[in-house]
Amino acid sequence: MLSNIGARIASKLADMGIKRGLSLRFAPSTALVSNRSVDIREIDPHKSYSVRRATTADIPDIKRLNLENLPENYTSEFFYRFLRSWPELSIVAESSHDRRLIGYALGRVELRRRHAGFSFQSQVPHMPSMAYQGHVTSIAVSNKYRGSGIGKRLMKTLHDSFIDQYSVEGVSLHVRQRNIEATSLYRHCFSYELQSVVKDYYDDGEDALLLYMAVKQQQQQQQQQ
Ligand SMILES: CC(C)(COP(=O)(O)OP(=O)(O)OC[C@H]1O[C@@H](n2cnc3c(N)ncnc32)[C@H](O)[C@@H]1OP(=O)(O)O)[C@@H](O)C(=O)NCCC(=O)NCCS
Repeated sequence: MLSNIGARIASKLADMGIKRGLSLRFAPSTALVSNRSVDIREIDPHKSYSVRRATTADIPDIKRLNLENLPENYTSEFFYRFLRSWPELSIVAESSHDRRLIGYALGRVELRRRHAGFSFQSQVPHMPSMAYQGHVTSIAVSNKYRGSGIGKRLMKTLHDSFIDQYSVEGVSLHVRQRNIEATSLYRHCFSYELQSVVKDYYDDGEDALLLYMAVKQQQQQQQQQ
């Protein structure tokens, strides 16, 4: 668990994709994120939407959604850098009614030392002790569209990209301790498990839950069953 200020800052920088001494760049992948439409018009005719990969033209809307729905806000440059670095991990939900963005999810990957006692075919042959780890950096759904499955769909699409594009060992994320909706999404819909409580993680002093989902291990267990 991270407890001192230096570790907190390092953790926050890592959350934003900024790592001291290690700058990773990945070539944009050619694989497309599913663009299938989900029709939930039985709930509200204005609430059908589709999920797709974000483009740089979406950045003003992503920034708007981020400002409207979360206290952790980022600059346009931050979003540009994210989309350039991990284009397949920048996902948006778009209203079919007026093409307005109604949600987004941003992820990143980094190379980390593999978890002890866990073996699999390395995705990084020249660095066999290293594995890709995914991290969900930010996700939000516009208030009036919540509770319709959009958050779940964004997370599922992001996970598919983590696995298809990077074959990640696992995915981590931070969530405010009092954020019941998001914690429920991660733990009940996707089996994220509590790894630690990070004291004073947020600027207002709220603790964060560091959650982790061992994607690769789950896949291996499913294959053995
Ligand atoms: C968290 C958030 C993205 C969920 O988006 P959403 O589109 O409303 O979520 P979904 O409709 O797909 O619901 C998925 C799951 O989330 C949980 N959930 C959603 N709304 C909930 C609520 N009001 N109370 C409790 N759990 C809730 C449930 O587990 C739900 O699964 P279920 O439908 O099988 O019960 C959305 O609430 C949001 O944008 N919140 C503000 C931003 C934020 O907190 N982001 C997370 C930062 S870590």
